[in-house]
Amino acid sequence: MKISSSTSILLTEPGTKHQRASHWVAKGDEAEHLLHNGDDINMTAAITKEPITRPSIDSNILQLLHKDHQKVAELFFQYTNLESDKDKQECVAEIIKELTIHAQVEEEIVYPAVRDDVEDSEDMMDEADTEHHMVKLLMAELAEMKPSDDHFDSKVTVLCELVKHHVQEEEKEMFEEIRDSNADLKELAVEVLARKAELMEALPTARKAPIKTSSRGRGRKSK
Ligand SMILES: [Fe+2]
Ligand SMILES: [Fe+2]
Repeated sequence: MKISSSTSILLTEPGTKHQRASHWVAKGDEAEHLLHNGDDINMTAAITKEPITRPSIDSNILQLLHKDHQKVAELFFQYTNLESDKDKQECVAEIIKELTIHAQVEEEIVYPAVRDDVEDSEDMMDEADTEHHMVKLLMAELAEMKPSDDHFDSKVTVLCELVKHHVQEEEKEMFEEIRDSNADLKELAVEVLARKAELMEALPTARKAPIKTSSRGRGRKSK
């Protein structure tokens, strides 16, 4: 399978080929605003640096999460152009890997920070937790399926729609809230990068390497 290095975030949802293109994650001026300015980052390079210690980065947590969102959006887009079962299986495995690690660092580090630092954030974060739960249920089903199975494509489509909705809420609501809070966005980025590196390291070898693509902490400290 050939995964392009395009950074396009104009998506066509799985199963629909060329219809229903949709903007999934913020881009351009909107992204700059949401991310509160800052240098672009190469997260892949950052998390694979050895030794795995506190990475030196000039980025904040919003930039890191946005990069993850872009990467997953791109994988979902790539899926729409795949024909063979083998390629589809690999692509879905990559989506599951990326989403699993992303959700884990959010739940361990980012969401607790939002709950701690953003007033009246309980409802927003409870909804985010619930959306993660739904995403995990679908991923668990897909992980046990083959692309030739009934409803495989439709489950990928629904997973994409769930994730798209969740990402839009995070970037439009949670990002705004945490940016305006007292949370240390750079320290959160350091914690997340370190934790991602640990989680990547713990993956079985076969799942560590990204599929053909060129673009491709521990828990939050209590206050
Ligand atoms: Fe999330
Ligand atoms: Fe996210």
